[in-house]
Amino acid sequence: MTKYGSFPGTRPRRLRTTPVMRRMVAETRLHPADLILPAFIREGVSEPVPVAAMPGVVQHTRDSLKKAALEAVEAGISAIMLFGVPEEAKKDAQGTVGTDPDGILQVALRDVRAEVGDDLLVMSDLCLDEFTDHGHCGVLDAEGRVDNDATLERYAEMAQVQADAGAHVVGPSGMMDGQIGVVRDALDQIGREDVAILAYTAKYSSAFYGPFREAVASSLQGDRKTYQQDPANWRESLRELELDLTEGADMVMVKPAGPYLDVLARVADAVDVPVAAYQISGEYSMIEAAAEKGWIDRDRAIFESLTGIKRAGARNILTYWATEVAQKLRRSP
Ligand code: PBG
Repeated sequence: MTKYGSFPGTRPRRLRTTPVMRRMVAETRLHPADLILPAFIREGVSEPVPVAAMPGVVQHTRDSLKKAALEAVEAGISAIMLFGVPEEAKKDAQGTVGTDPDGILQVALRDVRAEVGDDLLVMSDLCLDEFTDHGHCGVLDAEGRVDNDATLERYAEMAQVQADAGAHVVGPSGMMDGQIGVVRDALDQIGREDVAILAYTAKYSSAFYGPFREAVASSLQGDRKTYQQDPANWRESLRELELDLTEGADMVMVKPAGPYLDVLARVADAVDVPVAAYQISGEYSMIEAAAEKGWIDRDRAIFESLTGIKRAGARNILTYWATEVAQKLRRSP
């Protein structure tokens, strides 16, 4: 056979020969500590309620949430991110129950914190959409537009109430301008310099949030395009990043993850703070649905999707598979 240059002296396939060889030279490894579990707590139910659009995910009762938190500790993941689903009748235009110390999210934060102490980081979604009767992430003005600055006042109060309830980390997800600065000030004002902010820095207006809307029984009509980012843009994310860092973000996040790996890689290259990515409901449901039909290998697709997100630059990943994946990693790393 003819020799071309160094061929066949250089053979990349030599490093792909056996599973142990491939494991040794892997550039990217998933670890349970990378993972954060998003979880839903629903008020007034006595049994966990399955989310039809997210097979395997439930709206938790107070008891089942505590169990899920302990399982997460056992599996070695780092955090749980809580979303509250109040009784429908309690929603109003201001999202009042979002700042009620006895509102469902605060009850859940206290429950989980009492259960896990500091063995698991307790994070809370800081946003009004689960609590408003119109389903928007903020309060509305007289014309029905989302009022940025009036919303910031609600977020300030929400941050304080969530810190009081035991959140180690708050995650402002409403995409209001100035939200990180306002939340930082609000926390510092009550002497809670210890509570960290995971900023939803690049949050796109995405069709892939569809299944989540069922999970939180969203009341939203229309869309969030006046506050969430346009999928066409990536430079805008670097602008959002600069603002969030200036305002005091401790960690930043890109969301969704899979369709935005370019944004994730650019954000990760640009900063020295930890970068998280949120593998959202639609990313989860697409894999579950295709696997249910027998069209893809479920476990391989899950691991590949997470490896891709980590390879793109995420230090931490929010994923509905967090506990399951961590358990599997512990069995065969
Ligand atoms: C808003 C919020 C959303 C998600 C997390 N926080 C929904 C939205 O912006 O419409 C989506 C998460 C997912 O789809 O898994 N509080």
